[in-house]
Amino acid sequence: MSGNRLDVTIENVNEVYDGPGGILWEMLMGEEIHVGGEQETNILAQKAGVNAESHLLDVCSALGGPARHLAQTWGCRVTGLDATQRMHTEAISRTKQAGLDDKVEYKLGNALDMPFRANSFDVVWGQDAWCYITDKKRLIEECARVLKPGGILAFTDWLETGSMSNDEWQALYTFMVFPSMETLDGYATLAETAGLTVIEKEDLSPDFARHIQLYLYNVQNEFRQGILDNYGHEMYDEVVRGITLWRDASAAGKVGRGRIIARKALRSWT
Ligand SMILES: C[S@@+](CC[C@H](N)C(=O)[O-])C[C@H]1O[C@@H](n2cnc3c(N)ncnc32)[C@H](O)[C@@H]1O
Repeated sequence: MSGNRLDVTIENVNEVYDGPGGILWEMLMGEEIHVGGEQETNILAQKAGVNAESHLLDVCSALGGPARHLAQTWGCRVTGLDATQRMHTEAISRTKQAGLDDKVEYKLGNALDMPFRANSFDVVWGQDAWCYITDKKRLIEECARVLKPGGILAFTDWLETGSMSNDEWQALYTFMVFPSMETLDGYATLAETAGLTVIEKEDLSPDFARHIQLYLYNVQNEFRQGILDNYGHEMYDEVVRGITLWRDASAAGKVGRGRIIARKALRSWT
């Protein structure tokens, strides 16, 4: 862990996803709000060993795009947990519309105090969202607690991958409203400390840098007029400025993305 921390609360993050921020990220990434879309969800599902018997908890499920895809394509049951009211309401409504509400349900709540009993889920899952969470140690402990013995923790997240000046990391975090970011090794250590065994950790940073470049291109071309019409020049300029900072930092190897797969021991310790 780098120790870089911005004073961001869960209320600040809720404001992003209750407002234009959530709409903008969906515009750029689709209703699976993470790098790599459906393809990345399939890779993570395969690595996590998801099947029709699995009950999966998606921590920070947002609009429920991955939850519906997992239920439809992999046949599993999914519970989505998210702290933002708009995301929660929208996920329920889109899931009902898709006719998947028998397989997918949602809870409104904080990942740092999960409203679930210990040993409940076969797979605990996260995609590009835990960078918003203020206490990564407690988050991973909560994931380990609600996993069944033998269950799998599978997640991707945005990471710090190189050293940055104070001005650099503060500008990057402020634009994204991130309280902190982990390193790949930092996450692996947190998982091991929580009693899990890391099976796989993969640095996906070159792919991340390519995606950020693409998001910038799309904002300046395909989505430019839509952002200007709906939110005005100031917002458009701010989005271009922020994504350009991320494009430059990812191209310089300072920020990136990674994937971790870990297993809880068969004998329960909770
Ligand atoms: C980038 S989106 C998640 C995208 C989602 N994983 C996907 O792949 O579609 C981030 C989400 O994290 C949620 N979030 C942030 N902090 C949270 C917390 N402490 N507990 C629960 N949800 C949180 C936000 O409300 C938001 O919906």
